[in-house]
Amino acid sequence: MLPVPSNPESVFTYGAPALKFGAGASDEIGFDLAQMGVGRVLVITDPGVAATGTPQRVADQMAGFGIVAEVFDGVHVEPTDVSMQRAIDHARSTGPWDAFVAVGGGSAIDTAKAVNLLLTNPGELMDYINAPVGGGKAPVNVLKPLVAVPTTTGTGSESTTICVMDVLSLKVKTGISHARLRPTLAVVDPDLTMTQPAGVTASAGMDILCHALESYTARWYASNEHKRPEQRVPYCGANPISDMWSERALSLMSRAFRRAVHDGSDREARTDMAVAATFAGLGFGNAGVHIPHANAYPIAGRVKTFRPKDYDVDEAMVPHGMSVSLTAPEAFRYTFQASPERHIRAAQLLAPDADRPSRDEDFLPMVLTRLMADIAIPNGIGAVGYVDADIDDLVEGSLKQQRLLATSPRPVVAEDLAAIFRRSLELW
Ligand SMILES: NC(=O)c1ccc[n+]([C@@H]2O[C@H](COP(=O)([O-])OP(=O)(O)OC[C@H]3O[C@@H](n4cnc5c(N)ncnc54)[C@H](O)[C@@H]3O)[C@@H](O)[C@H]2O)c1
Ligand SMILES: [Zn+2]
Repeated sequence: MLPVPSNPESVFTYGAPALKFGAGASDEIGFDLAQMGVGRVLVITDPGVAATGTPQRVADQMAGFGIVAEVFDGVHVEPTDVSMQRAIDHARSTGPWDAFVAVGGGSAIDTAKAVNLLLTNPGELMDYINAPVGGGKAPVNVLKPLVAVPTTTGTGSESTTICVMDVLSLKVKTGISHARLRPTLAVVDPDLTMTQPAGVTASAGMDILCHALESYTARWYASNEHKRPEQRVPYCGANPISDMWSERALSLMSRAFRRAVHDGSDREARTDMAVAATFAGLGFGNAGVHIPHANAYPIAGRVKTFRPKDYDVDEAMVPHGMSVSLTAPEAFRYTFQASPERHIRAAQLLAPDADRPSRDEDFLPMVLTRLMADIAIPNGIGAVGYVDADIDDLVEGSLKQQRLLATSPRPVVAEDLAAIFRRSLELW
């Protein structure tokens, strides 16, 4: 049980970007930026997304509004401090820029957030990366407009205040978190997501699902000690507003997720997934995530040889959404007792027709593992290369993510994490 606060929190917060949603929304970016008086724009993307032609089309469309737009397609899939620095150097040497447009998944959008931060503020990337890895500095200047155009249905990065990266020299995944990183405008055009390969749709979709489930089961905001205004952080715990986004995201996914993976041309399913990703991003971007995301950092960071299907990369990797999902069933079995009704309700929203197992704590893990098997997510951390002897190492990595573990609805220490990892070696 969590300790009872002596002066319970009574305030929660909600932040969101302006949003334009729907088929064809990405054709209006030139108009929207012209309204802001923008003249030169850098479009930021990765090579895989560039190959779909979308970033160049967005750039060409802006020319119709007198905007000079150039495409930078050097984003690294799952960015690192080194790859972000390359993007920053490119933008510095070709600037000044009046605005940035990120076209791609979380990798492109997070890279654009870092570029925008470093082109408008003094210092270097490391100064702003979360302490203790980096200096944890806050930006002093206002950033330029950033339009985020997701082409995956996953991260919700178009709505959030965070930017995630691997710091290569220290072998840790961390990030920068500040309200000013939030994009000015999110343009969610489901048509751009149709070309996502099935493997990307499955992994990115598990990210949506875990954002919704973790923010729905997160520690309730009022269970924290009352903060002073200067102590408030973007993640404030589950609250009535984030609950609404999470519940709707789960219902949409119940009808669309399998369909979108198995038939990428199913426009209705793709649109539902885009709505779900946006909703879950608006929810978790304020409430926060907990154990599955904390565990994902070492699962992705300590990868040995695993190569995911459908990701066009030259190195071993466990994609973000996949790494989050692999301990989710066991994490939710662990957190069940903190809020049984929420765990049961989440399972019902996700699988309205599923039979209820005899033990309620099995319900959400059962629904999740059935879904993961259906969409070809690997069967546990064993299937991406980990063995029992790696567990201490994985636990050590998760324990570094105290910012996330603090949102867990049930206190969690090393031995609890070890049990979750051990039970996640093979899930079904
Ligand atoms: N900032 C946040 O709030 C937040 C939240 C969760 C995850 N993340 C981060 O986001 C990253 C993952 O992002 P992601 O899951 O969106 O995937 P991604 O951006 O890494 O892209 C995955 C792959 O799909 C390809 N791709 C993307 N869209 C495509 C399309 N429409 N057609 C064809 N190919 C396409 C890309 O080229 C790439 O190879 C990770 O670095 C993760 O840590 C950030
Ligand atoms: Zn995530």
